[in-house]
Amino acid sequence: MTDKGSNRTITMKDDESGKTASFPIMNGTAGVPVMDIRSLYKEMGVFTYDPGYTATGSCKSEVTFIDGDEGILLYRGYPIEQLAEKSDYMEVCYLLMFGELPTKAQYDKFVYDISHHNMVHDQINNFFRGFRRDAHPMAVMCGVVGGLAAFYHDSLDINDPRHRMVAQYRLVAKMPTIAAMAYKYTIGQPFVYPRNHMGYAENFLHMCFSTPCEEYKVDPVISKALDTIFTLHADHEQNASASTVRLAGSTGANPYACISAGIAALWGPSHGGANEQVLNMLEEIGTKDKVASMVQKAKDPDDPFRLFGFGHRVYKNFDPRATVISKAAHDVLNTLGIHDPLLEVAVELERIALEDEYFIKRRLYPNVDFYSGFILKAMGFPVSMFTALFAIGRTVGWVSQWNELIGDPEQKINRPRQLYTGSAARDYVNIGQR
Ligand code: SDX
Repeated sequence: MTDKGSNRTITMKDDESGKTASFPIMNGTAGVPVMDIRSLYKEMGVFTYDPGYTATGSCKSEVTFIDGDEGILLYRGYPIEQLAEKSDYMEVCYLLMFGELPTKAQYDKFVYDISHHNMVHDQINNFFRGFRRDAHPMAVMCGVVGGLAAFYHDSLDINDPRHRMVAQYRLVAKMPTIAAMAYKYTIGQPFVYPRNHMGYAENFLHMCFSTPCEEYKVDPVISKALDTIFTLHADHEQNASASTVRLAGSTGANPYACISAGIAALWGPSHGGANEQVLNMLEEIGTKDKVASMVQKAKDPDDPFRLFGFGHRVYKNFDPRATVISKAAHDVLNTLGIHDPLLEVAVELERIALEDEYFIKRRLYPNVDFYSGFILKAMGFPVSMFTALFAIGRTVGWVSQWNELIGDPEQKINRPRQLYTGSAARDYVNIGQR
């Protein structure tokens, strides 16, 4: 990975000491240039302060590019709109993992290899017995995916590219199986094994909705919509969960532990957990006539409530994934003849919010989570499974970013600094003197 070097620098001057220093600007293929401040402390004796890393580049990456102002999302340079329309999730996985679209032979071998690694060690079934039946599927997935580290001692030399690739294949292949097992466990049904001849999304639907008594007939409209959802969620640059995977990976931790950490971070309602909260929020609103009051609540600076499915750290324009998912939601519900009154509430909420000065001024638009739940609900998934499906789609992005991190010679253990605002040094006082 080379930055498009230039001679441009930014010079800083300390008004107090008069000390100056210049820091080089690095240009990427596209997007915002970065200022290399690695020598800042040595040159100027200060650290940067950037809570939430809103203006901090943590790495160089070739995987995904986002232009938040223009609403652009590229996977290895290919626009998400084109991939959603013309590609499929397995091809997108190959693209993210290997950097190029596969030939037909490469595609067929990749699909074969993934579909022949989708089973989990039978001992893993016992993990589930320890959970309560009403455990949240994301809690189960954190535990079970992290536990994979206990089963794969044959591919843990993270400095061996082949070991890293084996771990990536296993994680992409097994995530749907584990998610389906988490779902089956919570509804008290027996686990359903994957079928190697089925497509990725089709197999997941089979594992979730078939029973020993009756095969689930996968509707191609549903499996295509789910495949598209996995594609739209596959990666997203340095989002919170990908950054979590990278941070864990920077310590040399086991890849399965790193992805388990990513699942934990994704679960948060400000991140991947929002898709579940959108439906809960719409249920709470109930009807179109109550939308305005919920919007007022979201605008109230004294109220911590935020409209779930709205806003984004990077997109200050429409999230291109939301545009694709919104159309897919309407298409799937129309095709299946499903009338979901909450969809009308969502459309009204979007209309009101997009006309409201508060949202316009802050450039808050619907994000990927706003409409995805309608499709997942129409497929028959409970709200509690929504973020688990997000995790299935995102696993390939996590492992692709993890692999890039481990192979990046510039990377070292991630260890941010701080501004200390606690007590100055003080001596211990015995309890009798306090
Ligand atoms: C995902 O990073 C990624 O790429 C994530 C993701 C991915 O694919 O990995 O895209 C997936 O996580 C999408 C986001 C899902 N989360 C939600 O839908 C939760 C609701 N959204 C907000 O919590 C918020 O918009 C965030 C967390 C998504 C972004 O927060 P930021 O960038 O820290 O923005 P902010 O909180 O600084 O907001 C700026 C202003 C604030 O108002 P002021 O203090 O300036 O007055 O906008 C307001 C916020 O109060 N605001 C909202 C709002 N989101 C931001 N007000 C009401 N409702 C909202 N949803």
